[in-house]
Amino acid sequence: MKTIIAANWKMNKTRPQAVAVAGDVAASLKESPVPEREVLIFPPATCLDCVSAAADNMYETGIQNLYPAEEGAFTGEIAPGMVHDAGGTWALIGHSERRHIFMEPDDFIATKVNFTLAHDLKVMLCVGETLPEREAGQLRAVLLRQLTSALSGQAAGAVGRIAIAYEPVWAIGTGKTAGSQEILEAHEIIRDILRMVFTSGDEVPILYGGSVKPANAAEILALDNVNGLLVGGASLEARSFLDIVRAGL
Ligand code: PGA
Repeated sequence: MKTIIAANWKMNKTRPQAVAVAGDVAASLKESPVPEREVLIFPPATCLDCVSAAADNMYETGIQNLYPAEEGAFTGEIAPGMVHDAGGTWALIGHSERRHIFMEPDDFIATKVNFTLAHDLKVMLCVGETLPEREAGQLRAVLLRQLTSALSGQAAGAVGRIAIAYEPVWAIGTGKTAGSQEILEAHEIIRDILRMVFTSGDEVPILYGGSVKPANAAEILALDNVNGLLVGGASLEARSFLDIVRAGL
């Protein structure tokens, strides 16, 4: 499987700012291709169309969140058809900021995963424990709950259209990266759970996210069961994101 390097821009960038970074990323990847890596960008919804248009086939794009309905009276929400229309092929589901700031529960996230896959978008499902959960020894229980609730209804056909991002909540945007042992342990637990849920669970990519930077990307990518990176802050500048895309090569 190709290593996935994904940018999550969160609530950052106007359209001109987004096009400038996206254009630099596309131009650099065109000039010096990186066939070992699959590059994704999750921009804000307002610039999904222009970031998709700037891709020049060098990366795919996705929405950071969507609502599980085709259309209707859901003020402020975005439907899968609108994502297709704006050129997106992926949806980020269950990001910890959605779970913790917007109080999205596991069953709602499961509904979104089902709806997204049924509407022909790929899913990047985010999971991860809070610091109190980790300190209470609940790492495995939390990952099991988050993964089985979101994935157990999926047919084998979903493999190939789902990626998991392990993002320990205490490492997101804090500058605190999880250590190698912590990442290894969590990714091994996730791999075990994926094998329970899917007969071909080895084929589901598991990305690490949480304060990834150019300086630590290669080391994290070298770990067992790390099949990619989901990058927030360090993906906002083309230079540092591209350094992460090329890390360890
Ligand atoms: P960060 O964010 O790299 O800024 O920690 C990662 C994420 O939330 O996806």
